[in-house]
Amino acid sequence: MSVRYDLSGRCAIVTGGAGGLGRGIARALLAAGASVELWDQDANALTEAVVDLGRRVSRRQLDIRVAGAVEEAAQAAFASHGRIDILVNNAGVLGEVKPIWETSPENFQRVLQVNLFGTYLVTRSVVGLMRQQAARAPSAGGHPLRGHVVNIASIQGKEGMPMASAYSASKAGMIALTKSVARDTATDGIMVTAVTPSAAETAMAKEISAERRAEIMARIPMGRFVEVDEVARMVLWLSSDDCSFSTGGIFDLSGGRASY
Ligand SMILES: NC(=O)c1ccc[n+]([C@@H]2O[C@H](COP(=O)([O-])OP(=O)(O)OC[C@H]3O[C@@H](n4cnc5c(N)ncnc54)[C@H](O)[C@@H]3O)[C@@H](O)[C@H]2O)c1
Repeated sequence: MSVRYDLSGRCAIVTGGAGGLGRGIARALLAAGASVELWDQDANALTEAVVDLGRRVSRRQLDIRVAGAVEEAAQAAFASHGRIDILVNNAGVLGEVKPIWETSPENFQRVLQVNLFGTYLVTRSVVGLMRQQAARAPSAGGHPLRGHVVNIASIQGKEGMPMASAYSASKAGMIALTKSVARDTATDGIMVTAVTPSAAETAMAKEISAERRAEIMARIPMGRFVEVDEVARMVLWLSSDDCSFSTGGIFDLSGGRASY
């Protein structure tokens, strides 16, 4: 990594932190000196991730769709670290890869519940607590800030995608949620942004067929998938004091696919 960030003394929460992108983001935050809580529903993956990532990392097993569990986890994280500086809303599911007329209402609801409603619940609880904490003096000049929220949306939320109506709608919802929460917190010193990656080589990408993979690749002008580290590097900047006047911004990570 060519740019170095100093996030020592910061507390970060990464939802879906036991998975592919979440773990890469957690690794980058740890390397910059932050303490990281991984929030995930998968107990085995959490155990493996904590061993993999080493010190300054802790775990909470929860389903982000459950309001009570999310509120309890946020309160516990705040009590144990004294503050929450960074929230990365990364937990998500792909759901069925089918044209809309073949999808089930249960699938549509589940994808919206995890990707959008879960992000809402976590943001609601954590941002509520961030607003109560003192603003930090920035590491090098600039303006005092209370925290950063980074949402992992998707290029599909901007452009849509055949056979992914629930997923694309949920990610479009995350983009609108990002812009709205950014306005709610604009005078609180809390920066709220989102990134819109194209496909990455994670467990999620392995759920799709070879044909689907080729179809996605053909849409990426740079002709390759985004690397986990490329996502993590952008999230690091968005979580740092250097991101002090970009709130409500949606940041591209699509290898040229995005048309806006
Ligand atoms: N991989 C890609 O191609 C790609 C592209 C663009 C955006 N994204 C987004 O990046 C994020 C991470 O995806 P990934 O590729 O690392 O997938 P992944 O499947 O490797 O990780 C997702 C993690 O979220 C957790 N999770 C799922 N539902 C949960 C719930 N209800 N409560 C708590 N945890 C839950 C899973 O246990 C898993 O550890 C997702 O939001 C995804 O939509 C992925």
